[in-house]
Amino acid sequence: MKLPNLNEARKRTNKEVEYIYLNQKYDNKLFKGQKYFLRTYGCQMNVHDGEEIASRLESLGFEMTDKLENADIVILNTCAIRENAHDKLYGFLGRCKHAKKDNKDLIIGICGCMAQEESVVKELMEKHPYVDIVFGTHNIHELQDLIINRKNKQDIEVYSCEGEVYENISYKRDSQIKAWVNIQYGCDKFCTYCIVPYTRGKQRSRRSNEIIKEVEDLVKKGYKEVTLLGQNVNAYGKDLEDELSFAGLLEGVAKTGIDRVRFVTSHPWDFTNEMIDTIAKYDNIMPYIHLPLQSGSSRILKLMGRRYTKEEYLDLFNRIKNKILNCAITTDIIVGFPNETDEDFKETLDVVNKCKYDSAFTFIFSPREGTPAAKMEDKIDMKTKENRLQELNELVNSYSLAANKKYINKIVPVLIEGISEKDNTKVFGYTDTMKLVNITNGKDKIGQIVNVLITDAKSFSLDGDIKE
Ligand code: 5AD
Ligand code: SF4
Repeated sequence: MKLPNLNEARKRTNKEVEYIYLNQKYDNKLFKGQKYFLRTYGCQMNVHDGEEIASRLESLGFEMTDKLENADIVILNTCAIRENAHDKLYGFLGRCKHAKKDNKDLIIGICGCMAQEESVVKELMEKHPYVDIVFGTHNIHELQDLIINRKNKQDIEVYSCEGEVYENISYKRDSQIKAWVNIQYGCDKFCTYCIVPYTRGKQRSRRSNEIIKEVEDLVKKGYKEVTLLGQNVNAYGKDLEDELSFAGLLEGVAKTGIDRVRFVTSHPWDFTNEMIDTIAKYDNIMPYIHLPLQSGSSRILKLMGRRYTKEEYLDLFNRIKNKILNCAITTDIIVGFPNETDEDFKETLDVVNKCKYDSAFTFIFSPREGTPAAKMEDKIDMKTKENRLQELNELVNSYSLAANKKYINKIVPVLIEGISEKDNTKVFGYTDTMKLVNITNGKDKIGQIVNVLITDAKSFSLDGDIKE
């Protein structure tokens, strides 16, 4: 296993890496006529990594297919945040193994956060010898070389630690209307339940001039929306000297003139009044904030290492709501953290009742190997945790529906993104507050921001008609 490869990576300077892996022109006839199947699990960061992976595969001549049986190479871009992510990977690997029986030359590759987990790499080596290549979140730039130089053995290239920040990465973007833009990689917060700081390394911010240049380029290409991506966007720049704060970066991005600026994910601890003021000041910074709560109990928050109390969270929430008119706020909540009592859970319900979130992603705590919380003794049985999740979901969904119903009979601007997957007579798009709207007319309006009259509301979407 080549896990200590980091030392080798560290010896190379950023310039050399850029020369070797980024500016290298690959022969796009090498794999001409061959097809790639790429499946991405997990968060937006992974989705955006998938856009880089696709671009690298196409630089070798591979073309995309959405059918596993037609593929010459399969790449599974994995997520490690909760246990069910593991189950999904091994479930799909079974299908890949089967496909390899029909096509012996099929290359199977695994990357993403699970590939950074030593236990997973070990398991792949011992029990899944038909997997050909494994590369980590810090090795994506080596994908072409891994494929070209493949020997008939498992090639594993996983740096155990992050390298430097690379610029000029090429992406095959999924959309020509909205784009993801990384502003930082990794996370330094080490919340006790979370595996991300281990799989994605410590926080590394990109330089603001590089980020703004990327957004300016997207504006020139006709993009209407960018989402600035990071595990903790509010801590942007803190790892660099002479760099803007997140508020300064937001301002710089807003001034590029792009129609819509979004950002995920925010950490309450790093959220400043200056950021709130900046969001309020610029019309093209969308009034939508994903503000993970995780728990409403100050006791559990402390055990989670979240660095804020229930009261501090509520205070921030109210400051945002008072300053940014009609701001939609969504959240993440974990139930069943080790030894969460009924009282702790009631505190979470209390925050939900006070905040009346536009929507919330809710999870049962999943112990992740190597994190402090996984070692905590836990006396709460699974049935109790499931019951809590159900009670929480019912409450959260009732508030989502109530928040959505307020839109009925209002006219709101919607960026139309494309034809609805469920009903091809309709188009879909998002309001500035990130509400999904299904629209009866408007096939000629794809890529435009148009006024839509909201006619109906459900818990997870709105219905509407374009109003000229
Ligand atoms: N168990 C359950 N949920 C988790 N999350 C992160 N780690 C875990 C875990 N070990 C949730 C958090 C985070 C979201 C992306 O996933 O709520 O905000
Ligand atoms: Fe994980 Fe906490 Fe970092 Fe978010 S802020 S990625 S929950 S460690």
